[in-house]
Amino acid sequence: MRHFALPFALLLLFSLLCLSCAREERHYVVGVSQCSEDIWRDKLNEELRMGEYYHNNLTLHIASANDNDRRQIAQIDEFIAQKVDLLIVSPNQLHTISPAIERAYAAKIPVILFDRKTDSKKYTAFIGADNYEIGRTMGRYLALQLGGRGKVVEVMGLKGSSPAIERHRGMMEALKAYPEVKVVGRCHADWLEGAAQAQMTKLLATLPDFDAVVGQNDRMAVGARKAVEAAGRGHDIIYMGIDALPVAGGGLEQVRDGGLRASYIYPTRGDLVVRLAMNILEGKPYARDNYLKSALVTKENASLLLMQDEELRQQSAKLAVLRGRVDTYFTQYQHQKVYLAFIVIIFLLILGVLFGLYRYISMKHRLVEAATQARLQFFTNLSHEFRTPLTLIIDPIDRLLDDTPLDDQQRSLLQLARRNVRVLLRLVTEILDLRKVQNGKMQLVLTEFDLREQLQEWVNGFMPAFERRGLLLHLDLPDALPMRADAEKTEQMLNNLLSNAIKFTPRGGTISVRATLEDGQVRIVVADTGVGIAKSRLSHVFDRFYQINAHDGKGTGIGLAIVKAFAELQGGSVSVESREGEGARFCIVLPCRQEGDSEADNKAETTPPAEASDHRPEPDFLEPDEGTSPTLSPETDRLTNPTPPEERPLVLIVDDNEEVREYVQSLLVPHYDILTAVDGEEGLSKALARVPDAIIADVSMPGMSGIDLCRRLKADAIVGHIPILLLTAHAQHRLEAYDCGADAYLLKPFSSKVLLARVQNLLSNRQRLKLVFSGEDNLPPKPADADEAFVRAFRDKVQQHMADPDLNVETIAAEMGMSRVQLYRKLKALTGNSPVELIRTTRLRRADLMLRQGGRTIAEVSYEVGFSSPSYFSKCFKEHFGRSPGTKPA
Ligand code: FRU
Repeated sequence: MRHFALPFALLLLFSLLCLSCAREERHYVVGVSQCSEDIWRDKLNEELRMGEYYHNNLTLHIASANDNDRRQIAQIDEFIAQKVDLLIVSPNQLHTISPAIERAYAAKIPVILFDRKTDSKKYTAFIGADNYEIGRTMGRYLALQLGGRGKVVEVMGLKGSSPAIERHRGMMEALKAYPEVKVVGRCHADWLEGAAQAQMTKLLATLPDFDAVVGQNDRMAVGARKAVEAAGRGHDIIYMGIDALPVAGGGLEQVRDGGLRASYIYPTRGDLVVRLAMNILEGKPYARDNYLKSALVTKENASLLLMQDEELRQQSAKLAVLRGRVDTYFTQYQHQKVYLAFIVIIFLLILGVLFGLYRYISMKHRLVEAATQARLQFFTNLSHEFRTPLTLIIDPIDRLLDDTPLDDQQRSLLQLARRNVRVLLRLVTEILDLRKVQNGKMQLVLTEFDLREQLQEWVNGFMPAFERRGLLLHLDLPDALPMRADAEKTEQMLNNLLSNAIKFTPRGGTISVRATLEDGQVRIVVADTGVGIAKSRLSHVFDRFYQINAHDGKGTGIGLAIVKAFAELQGGSVSVESREGEGARFCIVLPCRQEGDSEADNKAETTPPAEASDHRPEPDFLEPDEGTSPTLSPETDRLTNPTPPEERPLVLIVDDNEEVREYVQSLLVPHYDILTAVDGEEGLSKALARVPDAIIADVSMPGMSGIDLCRRLKADAIVGHIPILLLTAHAQHRLEAYDCGADAYLLKPFSSKVLLARVQNLLSNRQRLKLVFSGEDNLPPKPADADEAFVRAFRDKVQQHMADPDLNVETIAAEMGMSRVQLYRKLKALTGNSPVELIRTTRLRRADLMLRQGGRTIAEVSYEVGFSSPSYFSKCFKEHFGRSPGTKPA
């Protein structure tokens, strides 16, 4: 995350910016080349700026040539070099500027001429007033003002500029209609007031009287008037100009105040110039020549026009305020966008850092946890490994103590050995239990029991220890404490607390056990008057592997951890109160009734209780009860006497541990024929080849495990019937073992008596299918039972081929897809009879039926059931039924 937070944030920012860009159209840059600088152009420039404002995708670069041709040419070339998208030019003069404009046009830059023209056709569009028409209107109005007769002085603009030429032509055209109106003087004043004043002064020196002065713009008309007034010439002279700008001292005011007789509005309309430019740039339709409408201004309309203009100005001012606000908001919006992007980036970075930190901490935690787990796994594996050698120690000791005549010293030595092996077993079991709880694999086995009775019984088991150690027991129990809980785990909790109390209470001390019922919960308190626990250690006593009094070496730190784990597993808790030197008080709280599967529903509990308690040894200091060895069943009793060799079933032992193999063999050999295999593969092939009557297999073997072996055998039609007993040191293999079809399961260390009883039990269960041959159809069909189906299939084959005297075991075995030996072993195992015996019994039973039905001779019947000799048939019949075929049954 840390690695991609930054790029991700940048990508996001980039996307945000792109998004905002994507919403705008293509951006255009337009160059504007003004020929000069004056109030008319200022107004125009302002309108162009407004137009630029209304188009977000437009940037104008406005330059002024200051009435200088060369400067304007240079400006235009500069714009071409900048590759502007469009050029707007007001050419200073016709001829001089044309080549530069043609260059732009050739560079595929659209060119708009405004106000003034060139003498070239190479431009994209023109926009401006019709100067010829303006000239004509002014000429006509002048003639009218002069009453069709008078002398006129014409003050012209820059020589060579198109408005000067066109306005002149227009006026002269209009005056043609008034031959009595004569132009008596003319000068060029370059559109400037000062120049006009100077030129007029010069002209006055030679000029006789005149009636009117027509300036080609207002400024020049005013300049000429100043010259006339300065020279003290005529006072009734009519002055006329063009532009009619609505600014202070401009044409409109001049007309209103009588300084000028008339003017003509020369429109600027920068807005229309910009719109034309945008149409061209955006490929919209436009006209090539655009003439702006205009009007004559006289004293009659000057005031009105000024008022209108004032109104417009105010509106514009308001608009400007609004525009300012919009600008502010837009700027704020832009800033906010950037802030937002930064906030998002910072947020993502913080998120990235936090995530990285989290990963680092959890990785560290995982490493520590992994190391702990590895240690625990090592303990667990070691504990499992202990189980096998412990089996090989404890069981021989048990057998020696049970069977061998011993003197007192030998017996007490053996008992000492057995006690200490049990200590080891208890430790191993506790480690494994703790691990199971941690892995969530420990299951509760719920039963209904009276805790009062159980507590009494469990505490009684400790009485010898109390006596030996000179401790007093105080028991305080209510009348009855019905519970639904895991009795075995509750017992172990109490055992551990009592063991602990005994360990740390010196001779003469008291240990009390008290149980109470409150709000559906039982409280079991085990208190002692022993050495107590230091305050600093109190909070750790339930931690696994924590020793209460580390220095005295008592305890492993597992017992109390087990108490806590089992209490919590049952939805309860355990607590401790203690002061150093003042004893300790442990309190278990458990719910009286727990929900969940009861003992009967629990699959693991299908194993007999003897086995379940087999791996749960007593606390080490308790004298084992010498009479607690598993009680012998009649079958086991029988097994104490060796079985005669001819009846001996064949048992296959599969275990990779040679010692276990040999030990189990030594246990079984007095009663069974033994076959051994060192691993799963060998076990499988020997089982298939020899079809033993029972198989004992270890679960944990390299290669094919006992579970795999069992699964393979159970899926096989030939050997699927063989009962399999699995041995393992891992309690969690139990469910797996039953799932794979094993018939029984024993946890190491196991008792030899239990093992023998279990094998015997499994073998005797297999005799029932004999019944299939006891009559024609006495056994109700059970199609789900593969063994029964097999036996029935054999019987059907025999019945099918009964008349065939050559019918033999090989033929039927081949038809059933197995060897003669396999068929023999399987049938023998399932029914107790060999195939030959079964064939003969079937034939004889059919013969008996036929004879009872009558209508056939003995010889006929004997042939029909497949006997080749009637005398042999009679002999067999008599052997089987105890009567000759000719006699009726009693
Ligand atoms: C402004 C101006 C106007 C005149 C126009 C002619 O620069 O001189 O006074 O009408 O140009 O192009």
